[in-house]
Amino acid sequence: MKHYDTNHKAWNQYAGRYQKNADFSFDVVDYGSTHCATEKDLHLIGDASGKKVLELGCGGASCGIALAKQGAEVTGIDISEEQINIARSNCDRENVQLTLLVSSMEELDLTDDTYDIVISMAALGYIEKIENIFKKVYQTLKKNGIFVFSLPDAIYNCVTAKYLWNDPLPQHSYFYTGPEKWKWEDEDELEFVTFRRPISEYINLLIDEGFTIVRVHQLQDFHEEMEGKNEFDLLYPNLIVFKVTKKT
Ligand SMILES: C[S@@+](CC[C@H](N)C(=O)[O-])C[C@H]1O[C@@H](n2cnc3c(N)ncnc32)[C@H](O)[C@@H]1O
Repeated sequence: MKHYDTNHKAWNQYAGRYQKNADFSFDVVDYGSTHCATEKDLHLIGDASGKKVLELGCGGASCGIALAKQGAEVTGIDISEEQINIARSNCDRENVQLTLLVSSMEELDLTDDTYDIVISMAALGYIEKIENIFKKVYQTLKKNGIFVFSLPDAIYNCVTAKYLWNDPLPQHSYFYTGPEKWKWEDEDELEFVTFRRPISEYINLLIDEGFTIVRVHQLQDFHEEMEGKNEFDLLYPNLIVFKVTKKT
């Protein structure tokens, strides 16, 4: 089965549990985890009122909803029908309107010079050829538009591959580039596929596409109930967040 089909199937089955466990805010944008620093701390997106926003891999659209509440016009897309169903009921409950589409971002056709802001939180790790998404985002952004996205931090993944998950040897290396198969919990049947690269590769691919890098943050995902449970969350960054812009 191709990674696309594996993730589509797995996200359709896991969506409900993911939303319940994550306990998202619909008033403040988070960068893919509710336990990390959020937009309230880092101000990467800023005021979105009157802006056209695209959210790639929107899941339950908690980020898009928070931006729509500021007055943004938001389009959210996700590969999973179940995630989009949840996003629709979240919009009803929160009393905002988003345009929501089921599509893989790999297959999505986007018009040039359309969006002021593109966001993607904890979703680009599922993409094998991330450079293709960077290209699409660059083209669909207006001049001076911004792209804010997060990914699992490769440093966290290589350390936990070796010391926590007992993953295959090549994945213990920080320099590993390629797919990783994983489950949310050991006893789960559902398998997801994400793609890992060293951080310098993301930076170079963004530069090659023409983006200007404005800010990079490595976020710790650790909260009080985790005390003594997973020292890796205390010691290493869990998510990396980029803010880049299209200057021309
Ligand atoms: C970890 S969740 C994050 C969801 C949301 N951004 C959030 O922060 O709650 C990853 C999301 O990426 C979506 N996804 C995975 N592969 C995708 C693809 N090729 N195209 C679009 N969405 C995809 C999944 O369905 C899932 O909703």
